[in-house]
Amino acid sequence: MTAIVIDGNLIAEQIRAEVKAKAAAFTKKTGYPPGLGAVFAGDNPASAQYVRMKRRACEQVGFHSAAQIMPDTCTQGEVEAAVKLLNDDPYIHGILVQLPLPAHIDEEAVLRMVNLDKDVDGFHPINIGLLGMKGREPSFTPATPTGCMVLLEAAGVNLEGANAVVIGRSNIVGLPMALMLMKANATVTVCHSRTRDIQRHVREADVVIAAIGKPHFVQGNWLKPGAVVIDVGTNRIDDSNDPRGYRFVGDVDFDSALHVAGAISKVPGGVGPMTITMLLANTLKAAARFADNARPNVEG
Ligand code: GUN
Repeated sequence: MTAIVIDGNLIAEQIRAEVKAKAAAFTKKTGYPPGLGAVFAGDNPASAQYVRMKRRACEQVGFHSAAQIMPDTCTQGEVEAAVKLLNDDPYIHGILVQLPLPAHIDEEAVLRMVNLDKDVDGFHPINIGLLGMKGREPSFTPATPTGCMVLLEAAGVNLEGANAVVIGRSNIVGLPMALMLMKANATVTVCHSRTRDIQRHVREADVVIAAIGKPHFVQGNWLKPGAVVIDVGTNRIDDSNDPRGYRFVGDVDFDSALHVAGAISKVPGGVGPMTITMLLANTLKAAARFADNARPNVEG
C-alpha cells in the first residue's frame, strides 16, 4: 500500500485565495482591511523569521498588520501594555502573542489580557476551557490544530468514533488538538514523554497526530495499516547533501510510514503552511464579527 500524501501547500493556497477574496470584499464594504496585531517578546532566533512570515502572509491576502517587538529584557508591564495597545486599536481585529514568551514573563497573565473577540490564536484560558467543554464553543480555536482538522477533513477522514492518538501534550498543539478531536466525537488517547508504551497506543489508532518534536519518532511498523497520519513536527537535522547543511523533517519516519498509512501529511508542506493560513482565516472571521457589531455612526 502507498499512502495518499496530504498536500498542505495546495490546501493552504486554496484557503488563502478564499481569504484574500473575502478580505477584498470586506475592505470594499467597510473602508478598512482586516487587521492582525502580533506581540513578539524575546530574542528567540525563530521570532524574527516569524515576524517576517506573518507580515508577508498578511500583505499577500490584503490585511493590515502591526507588530509589537520587544527584547528579552522586556518587563511584564511592557508586554501587557503591548497587548492593551492592540486591544484598544479599532483597526486590529485579531491578536497573536508569539509563544514562548521569555521565562520571566507570566504567560497566563498576558494571554488572559487578550480581548476574547480578538483572540484569534484561541489561547485565552476561557477559550481553551470552552474548547474542552461539551456543548460550548470558543470564539476561536488554535491555528495549528485547526489546520490539522482541515487536513483530516481534506483526507476524507470520518472522526466519529475513530481511535485518535495525539503524541505530545503541549499547550499550543497537543492539548487543543486532543480537545478538538474529542469535540469531533473521536476516542482520544494522548501520549507524551512519560507514556509507557507509545507503540501499543499507536498500533490501535485510526488517526495519528504526531506533535512531540522528535525527528522520525514514529516508525511505519508502529502504524495500523490504513491509518491517517498528520505530522506536526518540524525538526531541523544536519544534512551535508543539502546546500544549507540542514533540512527539516517531521516526527514521523515518512519513508517507512508511506507504505503502511492510508494517508499522510508531508514535512515540509503539510501542517506548516496551514498554521498561518488558519490564523488569517480566524482574523478575517474576527474582522467580520467586529464589522457586524459596529454600530452605525448616527449623529445628532
Ligand atoms: N509558537 C509556536 N506556534 C505558535 C502558534 O501557533 N501561536 C503562537 N502564538 N505562538 C506559537
